[in-house]
Amino acid sequence: MEEYSDDEQQRSSQALHVQTPLIHSPKLSIKLDCNVYFKIENVQPSGSVKMRGIGNFCYKAVQSRGTDIHLVCGSGINTVLAVAYCARQLNVSAITVMPKDTATSICDAVRLEGTHLILYGEDWPAADEHARKLVKRNSVYVPSADHSDIWEGHASIIRELKEQLQGNPPAAIICPVGGGGLLNGVITGLQNIGWKNVPVIAVETHGSNAFQASVVAGKLVTLPKISTIASGLAASTVSSKSLELSLVHPVVPFAVSDAMAADAVRLFAEDTKMIVEAASGAVLSLCYTQLIRDILPSLGQECDVVVLVTGGSDISLSQLDEYRKKFYRPPVIVKSGGEVFLKMDDKLTHIQGVDMSEPLGISSDNLTKINQGHKQKVKESNRQQRLQQQQEQQKLVADTPMEDSFQVSTQEEEEDMLIVNASPSANTL
Ligand SMILES: Cc1ncc(COP(=O)(O)O)c(C=O)c1O
Repeated sequence: MEEYSDDEQQRSSQALHVQTPLIHSPKLSIKLDCNVYFKIENVQPSGSVKMRGIGNFCYKAVQSRGTDIHLVCGSGINTVLAVAYCARQLNVSAITVMPKDTATSICDAVRLEGTHLILYGEDWPAADEHARKLVKRNSVYVPSADHSDIWEGHASIIRELKEQLQGNPPAAIICPVGGGGLLNGVITGLQNIGWKNVPVIAVETHGSNAFQASVVAGKLVTLPKISTIASGLAASTVSSKSLELSLVHPVVPFAVSDAMAADAVRLFAEDTKMIVEAASGAVLSLCYTQLIRDILPSLGQECDVVVLVTGGSDISLSQLDEYRKKFYRPPVIVKSGGEVFLKMDDKLTHIQGVDMSEPLGISSDNLTKINQGHKQKVKESNRQQRLQQQQEQQKLVADTPMEDSFQVSTQEEEEDMLIVNASPSANTL
């Protein structure tokens, strides 16, 4: 057991989040030939990992300003749900703003915590802008990701992991990235406990890859448009801290298609009987498609891989059903660095780009064309290989002196040859 410092002990007893189980996945471990673990944040009180970061932020706000404050928030379903839960636990009021078309079940869950809910605007940026306007002298605006108290809260996941893995660093941690708050917490947590070489695979979707674009550009990039079903990852820019940390810690930015994230949600539900949103599906897809082995080819049976299953409430049984119908076993299309790859026959093939107008990331016509081209190439390379083998055999026969070739066959072999030649089938031929 890890020994906590007095400070840490005090902090964990005040935490609004709960310690989550680290569960082994026998199915994925066999598939990937290493030990795959799920850190299941979907069991947090508000349903997502946000509880850690937002919980710490709200706790600290009340600690420094007292219980007369109002918490104000309008930045994403899981952040709002976490704020609503924290407000009730800390006995403070909260005003939350969500877009007008937010699902009734989410609105009910927020209202159930006793929070004042305003439905405003067509989308989250509009709702958030409205929320910021409601901030008065005695209120505290709660951001989704970009604050050091949020990162500190998220870092608790790494302290727990260290205890659960008995101090043995994993081979990799797979972490989803939206605004980058969780990533910042994970990296600072790793640095704090001395796991400075544990790589973090930072996963986004193609339509929300602000972190990946920033790392490739070497400066913060704001995406002109966000387009993803993974609403938890829908941030047009990441915190500058995320980019800063990517320079001091091994981080691999990786983007997957919405379809891959959705299919992984389905597979995870089938395997574990738990339902999570597409933000979690994005990280899980690296295991279900075995891409993690392409990213880390040296993974062996002794290696542990931890997937941060961050949970999330933007999922329902009907959405899951829709995912199953629309995104069943989609093509594997990934972006790594500035390049796009399609996985065929367990190999990554470079392709032109992601077609964002297609739900699968590629049109079926284009996919058929690439597949046919690939099959043709495989056929041609097999033909070349056979030709080369034949030529080598012919050369070997030509280089072998006649007497030698008679000398190498033993009497026994010659008898066998006679028997074969004397067989009825040989006669009939
Ligand atoms: C379920 C879920 N996973 C991951 C994230 C990403 O966290 P961050 O915005 O801190 O990068 C979010 C953000 O809202 C989320 O809701």
